[in-house]
Amino acid sequence: MDQLIQQIEEYKKEIAGATASSAEELENFRTRFLGTKGIIKALMAEMKNIPADQKKEFGQIMNGLKVSTEEKFETLKSAIGNTTNGKEHTKDITLPGDTIATGARHPVTLMRNRIVSIFQRLGFAVAEGPEIEDDFHNFTALNISENHPARDMQDTFYLSQNPDWLLRTHTSNIQIREMEKGNLPIRIICPGRVYRNETVSSRSHCFFHQVEGLYIDENVSFADLKQTLYFFVQEMFGKDVKVRFRPSYFPFTEPSAEMDISCQLCGGSGCSVCKRTGWLEILGCGMVHPNVLENCGIDSTKYTGFAFGMGVERPALLKYGINDIRLLSENDVRFLQQFTSAT
Ligand code: DAH
Repeated sequence: MDQLIQQIEEYKKEIAGATASSAEELENFRTRFLGTKGIIKALMAEMKNIPADQKKEFGQIMNGLKVSTEEKFETLKSAIGNTTNGKEHTKDITLPGDTIATGARHPVTLMRNRIVSIFQRLGFAVAEGPEIEDDFHNFTALNISENHPARDMQDTFYLSQNPDWLLRTHTSNIQIREMEKGNLPIRIICPGRVYRNETVSSRSHCFFHQVEGLYIDENVSFADLKQTLYFFVQEMFGKDVKVRFRPSYFPFTEPSAEMDISCQLCGGSGCSVCKRTGWLEILGCGMVHPNVLENCGIDSTKYTGFAFGMGVERPALLKYGINDIRLLSENDVRFLQQFTSAT
């Protein structure tokens, strides 16, 4: 016991006089005294050789040694922290910080959100539907029967596993799925991706996005349709925009129309974007055909409604000054990065 105490006194002196001028020296101090194979552990192990009546005294001495060593370690550590030798301060804190890359919304997403939010303010709720659809919901229920020439208007991708399945050619399938639920009145806006077997070029792609709208209630009229769409384009393109409706044909609406807005690039005087007409076609619309209502179990003598469908890519190209539709699906970061602050 006496021998041990003498040794401990020597260690105490060594500890009190210890210095560390680098992280490495500090670590050496720690392993020598406080490590799992260090001096204090080894001394503690002597406890079993100490006579019982002296165990208590020895324990107190060891405790004191341990506490003062730990304190010394902390003192040395904080001293190093204040010098440039310590690990903590090897960085130049005057350097500019690392750039944190924030993501950007895709221009198609930006345009879709703009369109959807205008209709949401009018009380339209967002509805979505499947991209893999069956023939009934994409065609038949929309009054496009099997041999209807309108099927040629939209070159369809069929699934090889089952000829009844296809990639939807328009978002009008969502109308059908919502009407089938039978919760009237219906006032929905339906964004989604659609597919058509078309040659890919700078102006058209084999997949793109549409936003469909549907309003079914008692006494819905063509005047409601016009006013709703007029409100939309004014919110979207500004109060000065001019609109015109041209009679058109869609199997699922009667009467049907296409809506043009005055060209946003030349203001109506004629340019290459509007093919010198001064007008840009932006959507198709009409009063929901009674056959479509009946196909979904809705009484067409009681209810009427209007529907419309528009593309998302065209207005996005116009708004953001993009000259090739393919850029929208190539995921080139140099292109996408340009939209970090776009709205
Ligand atoms: N489904 C049509 C298309 O893809 C767009 C359309 C036109 C949707 C008129 C409608 C509508 O709901 O009423 O070309």
